[in-house]
Amino acid sequence: MRLVLSDVGKTFLSLRGPVRAVRDVTLAIGEGELFVLLGPSGCGKSTVLNLAAGLVKPTSGEIRLGGRVVASRDGKVFVPPKERNVAMVFQSYALYPHLTVFENIAFPLRVAGEKKGDIGHAVAQAGKTLGISDILQARPAELSGGQRQRVAIARAIVRKPALFLLDEPLSNLDAGLRASTRGELKRLQRELGVTTLYVTHDQTEAMTLGDRIALLRDGAVVQTGTPRDLYERPETPFAASFIGSTPMNLLKIPVLEEGGNAVLCLGETRLILPPGQAARVRRLGTAGILFGIRPEHVRIARGTADRPVTGTVTSVEDLGRESLLQVRMGEMSLSVLTGDKTVREGETVVLDIPPEEAHFFAEGNGP
Ligand SMILES: Nc1ncnc2c1ncn2[C@@H]1O[C@H](COP(=O)(O)OP(=O)(O)O)[C@@H](O)[C@H]1O
Ligand SMILES: [Mg+2]
Repeated sequence: MRLVLSDVGKTFLSLRGPVRAVRDVTLAIGEGELFVLLGPSGCGKSTVLNLAAGLVKPTSGEIRLGGRVVASRDGKVFVPPKERNVAMVFQSYALYPHLTVFENIAFPLRVAGEKKGDIGHAVAQAGKTLGISDILQARPAELSGGQRQRVAIARAIVRKPALFLLDEPLSNLDAGLRASTRGELKRLQRELGVTTLYVTHDQTEAMTLGDRIALLRDGAVVQTGTPRDLYERPETPFAASFIGSTPMNLLKIPVLEEGGNAVLCLGETRLILPPGQAARVRRLGTAGILFGIRPEHVRIARGTADRPVTGTVTSVEDLGRESLLQVRMGEMSLSVLTGDKTVREGETVVLDIPPEEAHFFAEGNGP
């Protein structure tokens, strides 16, 4: 079912004074879409999820679920959680310790008063989907973290929700299990075709899972788009540094107009910007510009680059298949991700910085 938030705001009244947890958030999540809310801790992700679930009442704005208003602008309409047909999974999967896995999954169906035969069928189906058919008679204490989280997910989907809400569901799992469960969640979501809002602070999770992502900061949406949009066209320095497995290099460097070209001054080196980039820089006004380049787009050229920039390697961090280098050029330092394992600390290297991969931001540009 489609979920639409229009100018939704939430201010909590706390002992510290009012906390504006959510500010004018507008999102439209399509039928069957897996939509990720991404942002640092405290940026309002859980509050947005709770607003969709009906656990929190908005201070302003409107929420619609499948075309029906579930929270109105004037505050007169507010549909409680149990009438919204939403299912939630949290980081801490609260299973009932005294009940078996079967009974845990069956619980919401029993509460809804469904028939015994139907319950047995639905639990078996959910168990099969999550690959936990063989542990239906176990109790939560006998299960691993990954199995428990699957039980929690099975319990959430067993009622065939109209909206599936997940709040950092994989945070308690260790790295390997997190990656495999992530893949399974995506497959499951596709199979069920249920509209899903997924909250995480982990950009890798957001990039691998999301059909689209909304990046949040201080309660507001900074940018919405596909993972590719956010990676290739971040609109702010915040988005640029938050997305990507190693943050984008952001440097304040001068851009000059020389002979009709916009020219980037990297230490002693001049890089002529391609026309599209030059136009963007001119729109920003050439003073006070942040130049951005992702570590994976800088290449170690070893003397053969057609746009050579030299620097000294000040550190080499071996990441396995690749190495993360810090390369100093005069006053500046660049992170460089390279597959070249022969580079040593203290070495002078030639860098190839492709101008077409450059990003530009106005300095001091907020979210
Ligand atoms: N019930 C509440 N009362 C007061 N402040 C709250 C409450 N819930 C959340 N907040 C505040 O709202 C902000 C956003 O919180 P939250 O939505 O939990 O962020 P996230 O899930 O992104 O970490 C935080 O500053 C948090 O302290
Ligand atoms: Mg949270």
